[in-house]
Amino acid sequence: MSTPRTTNDFGAPVGSDQNSLTVGPNGPILLHDHYLIEKLAHFNRERVPERVVHAKGGGAFGTLRVSKDVSRYTKAALFQPGTETPMLARFSTVAGEQGSPDTWRDPRGFALKFYTSEGNYDLVGNNTPVFFIRDTIQFPDFIHSQKRRSDTGLRDNNMQWDFWTQVPASAHQVTWLMGDRGIPRTWRHMDGFGSHTFQWVNAEGEKFWVKYHFKTDQGIEFFSQDDADEMAGVDGDYHRRDLVEAIDRGEFPTWTLHVQVMPYDEANDYRFNPFDLTKVWSQKDYPLIEVGTLELNRNPEDFFAEIEQAAFAPSNLVPGIGLSPDKMLLGRVFSYADAHRYRIGANYSHVPVNAPKVPASSYSQAGAMRTENYPADRPVYAPNSYGGPHADPSAVTETDSWTTDSEFVRQAYTLREADDDFGQAGTLVREVLDDAARDRLVGNISGHLLGGVSEPILVKALAYWSNVDAELGSRVETVVREALRRGELGTAGNSSPSTEVDEDLVTQG
Ligand code: HEM
Repeated sequence: MSTPRTTNDFGAPVGSDQNSLTVGPNGPILLHDHYLIEKLAHFNRERVPERVVHAKGGGAFGTLRVSKDVSRYTKAALFQPGTETPMLARFSTVAGEQGSPDTWRDPRGFALKFYTSEGNYDLVGNNTPVFFIRDTIQFPDFIHSQKRRSDTGLRDNNMQWDFWTQVPASAHQVTWLMGDRGIPRTWRHMDGFGSHTFQWVNAEGEKFWVKYHFKTDQGIEFFSQDDADEMAGVDGDYHRRDLVEAIDRGEFPTWTLHVQVMPYDEANDYRFNPFDLTKVWSQKDYPLIEVGTLELNRNPEDFFAEIEQAAFAPSNLVPGIGLSPDKMLLGRVFSYADAHRYRIGANYSHVPVNAPKVPASSYSQAGAMRTENYPADRPVYAPNSYGGPHADPSAVTETDSWTTDSEFVRQAYTLREADDDFGQAGTLVREVLDDAARDRLVGNISGHLLGGVSEPILVKALAYWSNVDAELGSRVETVVREALRRGELGTAGNSSPSTEVDEDLVTQG
């Protein structure tokens, strides 16, 4: 026989894949048909909860190759010259659920897991360098405003604009979102950013602040709103399919990794808060430094095992890389591993896609679905006198912290000279976008505002865009007011054909 015989989940042969065990061919099903029960019961348990955000996505495996020497900034093994590190990437939309269309306007997740020689390092970024809020405590409210209403189960533009206009810190990211980067053509045609400021520490213990930029080597390409809307109907899985097919064709997408590096002490008097996630650093002040190339070259064999169960966490750090006083990053360090314990289970680190490629020798033991034996020769407690693993404070960088000395407060960041909500968004509109991109921005914003935003929120939204840029604000107002006069509601942006925009998003703060 060339094909294997069917067994139950425990390897014993089964008599039929077609017929349940019954009393005669027309009689009732018998409860002791344990194979039927195994099938039904396992089927009922095939899903794990989808990610509360970034539920729809796809991913692939690849390699990070470091071609330049940044060892003066970090001792991290994966960033040493010539190092090649196996990795996994997962791309996603944020607000949509598992089956939602890939081409909805949204930031895109750009999550990376590096299986380094010193344990797993995860960089859980987006295709934008900034974010909508600057304090973790606002995240659940922000996400609720972007997801579905509790009464109708519908998404609601009114709710989105209500939140954004109440939280002007969102202006920079909303400008990105409403622009061309809000609907990438494919995942291969978008950049990735670590977004936060992280800490790098070199072998001498010298500290730096760093931002990661992954520049697509395929070029930036995007969908117009109309083309994206059409594609949502034609192929909701367009981005997932594109990545699978490109890799199958041997067209391996690559990104060039660059970093911006700020000497540790310069953070104290930079003209805006360099840890504020709603800001980018000027590339004139901190130019891009090339590090190496990320290549995706292998599709997953099992989407559920390797992508759905993949667990990316900003708390997965390795020696030479640390955190920063960014109030978003610090909240995320708690949130993700907590989500994984709920979504996948306490022993999610045993799922092969999440397991490090180096031996893990922690004192964690037992728990639901533990799949590895606890080594018989390892004591179950520390400290011990029997040769169990011992901690090495010199290896970690989580203690390479920063100086702070203050009372406990619940307060926004202290403002600096160039700290404001609208400045960098305005610079993006005026100095980075070209005329055609600005036209599309006006179309996208006004189309979105005409999709069910009430008059009081509309008034706030028009003021919001005037604060970003007076001319943009007045153009949006003209388009919206004229459409309202004509009774045109619910249009979604413009139908400009896609054109390539590859400006470097250098804003001046
Ligand atoms: C996914 C929380 C901000 C990028 C998630 C998940 C949670 C979460 C709970 C689901 C994790 C899972 O089930 O595996 C938060 C909180 C934030 C925050 C509390 C703010 C404090 C951000 C920011 C970025 C980001 C600023 C990007 C710069 C992502 C990505 C994923 C994700 C890419 C999907 C990871 C994957 O592909 O599995 N977030 N998030 N998040 N988040 Fe955030």
